[in-house]
Amino acid sequence: MKTQNVGNTEWQASSVILGNMRMDKLSVDEAAEVIETAYHNGINFFDSADIYGKGQSEIIFGQALKQSSVNREDIFIQSKAGIVPPTAENREQKRYDFSREHLLNSVDGILERMQIDYLDSFLLHRPDPLMDVAEVASVFDELEKSGKVKHFGVSNFNTEQFKLLQNNVSQKLIINQLQFSIMHSGMIDVGLHANMTDSQSVDHDGSILTFSQNEGTTIQAWSPFQYGTFDGVFIDNEKFPKLNETLEKLSLKYGVTKNAVAAAWILRHPANFQVILGTMNPKRIADSAAGADIVLDRQEWYDIYLAAGNQLP
Ligand SMILES: NC(=O)c1ccc[n+]([C@@H]2O[C@H](COP(=O)([O-])OP(=O)(O)OC[C@H]3O[C@@H](n4cnc5c(N)ncnc54)[C@H](OP(=O)(O)O)[C@@H]3O)[C@@H](O)[C@H]2O)c1
Repeated sequence: MKTQNVGNTEWQASSVILGNMRMDKLSVDEAAEVIETAYHNGINFFDSADIYGKGQSEIIFGQALKQSSVNREDIFIQSKAGIVPPTAENREQKRYDFSREHLLNSVDGILERMQIDYLDSFLLHRPDPLMDVAEVASVFDELEKSGKVKHFGVSNFNTEQFKLLQNNVSQKLIINQLQFSIMHSGMIDVGLHANMTDSQSVDHDGSILTFSQNEGTTIQAWSPFQYGTFDGVFIDNEKFPKLNETLEKLSLKYGVTKNAVAAAWILRHPANFQVILGTMNPKRIADSAAGADIVLDRQEWYDIYLAAGNQLP
């Protein structure tokens, strides 16, 4: 498994992460197998969020980790907070909340559910327009001082939002978790279509890719095998015949699955990407993790991009 520095720090972690968004559906035994499979295939980084499965994903993860043969000290655990989804009791409630009270309570809840003492990294899950940067700065200081969080970052932030927060907190923001895959490649499209007037030239994220490369921020690619926003999986999907034909050809060449080739496509970019797998299938975890050991050549990378329906200017 390829490892890399997270952000511009000395922190070395696996390039492939396992996300536990879908772990709430597993039994503790199944989740322990998932954690062990990931770890034995070189994945030492696990991503979470307080809202996954309404907290149940973190409960299952915590119990499964204790039951598994994997030591907490041998892995990195990350979680996110700041989204308040509607609940059965309060269906109207939906907001983003970066208030001091909400964030501090969220981190305490995360640690309690996962039965751990600290997070290796903590991310703000999705931008809150009411973010008071001084308030967030005091939260980060307190979380760092108490030892509850080692590193800080964000998720789904554009460039200017990132800069605004970075200019006001003492800690370096080393991670931005963003949707990115062969079928969700806006941050690549905008660079390729610079100086054009077509729809791919429209910048939705403030050149977040080049900004992150300049800053040394690690982009963690979420939903690496989905198209749309959770519309479905593009691998082996008859809606995408050309893409699957190209993935199949390369999977035969490298002796891996199409998932691995799709992960390798993300990791081939020289920005400091990590890929977050969401599969809860042990075989698929092992197969997909193998993508970290493949380096696609330039033409192969472009072939995949074009097979996904993209065009070069
Ligand atoms: N920051 C954010 O806003 C944000 C948003 C979403 C997700 N995330 C993070 O990113 C992680 C990954 O997201 P994701 O779960 O959407 O990623 P994903 O890996 O693209 O999708 C996983 C899903 O696709 C299925 N799948 C994968 N390959 C398949 C194949 N070849 N054939 C059929 N089904 C296949 C899996 O089913 P099986 O389990 O059956 O394999 C699973 O249901 C999450 O766990 C979470 O940590 C972050």
